[in-house]
Amino acid sequence: MRDGEQSPGASMDKEEKLRIARSLERMRVDIIEAGFPAASQGDLDAVYAVASAVKDSVVCALARASEADIDKTAEAIKPANAGRIHTFLATSPIHMREKLRMEPDEVVEQVKWAVEYARQFTDDVEFSPEDAGRSEIDFLCRVVETAISAGASTINIPDTVGYTLPEAFGNIVRTLIERVPNSDMAVFSVHCHNDLGLAVANSLQAVIKGARQVECTINGLGERAGNAALEEIVMAVRTRQDVFPVDTNINITEIVPASRLVSSITGFPVQPNKAIVGANAFAHESGIHQDGVIKKRETYEIMRAEDVGWAANRMVMGKHSGRNAFRTRLKELGVEFGSDDELNSAFSRFKDLADKKHEIFDEDLQALATEGDTEHSLDRYRLDYLSVTSRTGETPVADVTLIVDGNEVSGKAEGSGPVDAAYKAIDKIVGSDATLQLYSVSNITSGTDSQGEVTVRLEADGRFVNGHGADTDIVIASAKAYLVALNRLSYNPERFHPQHSEGI
Ligand code: KIV
Ligand code: ZN
Repeated sequence: MRDGEQSPGASMDKEEKLRIARSLERMRVDIIEAGFPAASQGDLDAVYAVASAVKDSVVCALARASEADIDKTAEAIKPANAGRIHTFLATSPIHMREKLRMEPDEVVEQVKWAVEYARQFTDDVEFSPEDAGRSEIDFLCRVVETAISAGASTINIPDTVGYTLPEAFGNIVRTLIERVPNSDMAVFSVHCHNDLGLAVANSLQAVIKGARQVECTINGLGERAGNAALEEIVMAVRTRQDVFPVDTNINITEIVPASRLVSSITGFPVQPNKAIVGANAFAHESGIHQDGVIKKRETYEIMRAEDVGWAANRMVMGKHSGRNAFRTRLKELGVEFGSDDELNSAFSRFKDLADKKHEIFDEDLQALATEGDTEHSLDRYRLDYLSVTSRTGETPVADVTLIVDGNEVSGKAEGSGPVDAAYKAIDKIVGSDATLQLYSVSNITSGTDSQGEVTVRLEADGRFVNGHGADTDIVIASAKAYLVALNRLSYNPERFHPQHSEGI
């Protein structure tokens, strides 16, 4: 989760992280790296909330090798059943010289100090020599030995800039395990970035060479080109048990639901041809393939779609479903309501939707909950009325009325399309200087009666916020998403942490 949200623009708030953490826990992920508490009070609170909610997975948080960072991380993971501190310091010549401005001996000293300091808070300390992929192997051995002696029980080898090739990366891991005298006292882990599209290949090669923890992200999200995709690692290991001497604990039927949840929360759509979780991953277009699959599925399929959680959309609820069935189904989907008021408000949104749409699927319920997460009683702006005219040959015009701090305010604007007109009308009322970084719309289920789910990302003064909206009318969904994002910008800056990549 921590590196995943380092995808530019994918930063998440507390509620969003909680939902993803619950989904990862259902998937039986061993360790959830929930955040980087030193980045902001908002992220510290989010990690704290995840540490309080998650019972079965280890909850981990990242810290630079400094007292202030480690203190914050220790505070954030305190409520965890099992909490881990992950501290790191760069070891490549370029990072030590240009970024840290430290001599190699000073780096070794700092590693020793940081791991020992972190051990005062928990027995479970992970250390990463940042940019290990470009570090000198002798120095790397020295640093790793020091970290293990100081008490690190997990040594994570990051290919921070995605530079290595599979054979070379596997050899780094093998060499460390063979040459570091106390290597048997730690689990070796890998963390590969995807700049050359090799993150999964590098991670798998490292597993073959002895790594027993892989750091990965849902849908391959992460800094720049992302990280190794969890779904690809897990399914490669599971499908090729003839090659891998190991397996994972992952409940693979949760893979597709988790992928959808992460995509809907971050607004990063999954490309159709993405392995395992892309819409076409199990679709056969060619007649020859279709014929083969009908005769014997294994002719062209090495995995079964249903095993990884692809299921035909199931009609779970309708207009006559009751509050209890609604609450129970959402609980099964990992969504729990903090109070009766929250449940009642979600249930009333469900009833409104059921009036417009006869069949309500799991995906609709998820969207409804995501929308609920983003509505707050302190919202400055609420949508009261929206009318858009859109005719062939004419410029679309939108009429919008908002309730702003309790007062009705109206605005009218033209635009290049109905959504553009609606946004311009809202801009006239709100007068925000935020810039739109992302607008994405996707259908939640199939069919023209599907809800459209809109994600909007705004940036103002270095702060990035997301807004989600769902409705059977995509112009209304778009307006809702825009207002959620504007509301988020208008209150409590600490709740939403800025992009923190510069700190790492
Ligand atoms: O890519 C990286 O090096 C990291 C470390 C902090 C593990 O994310
Ligand atoms: Zn990383």
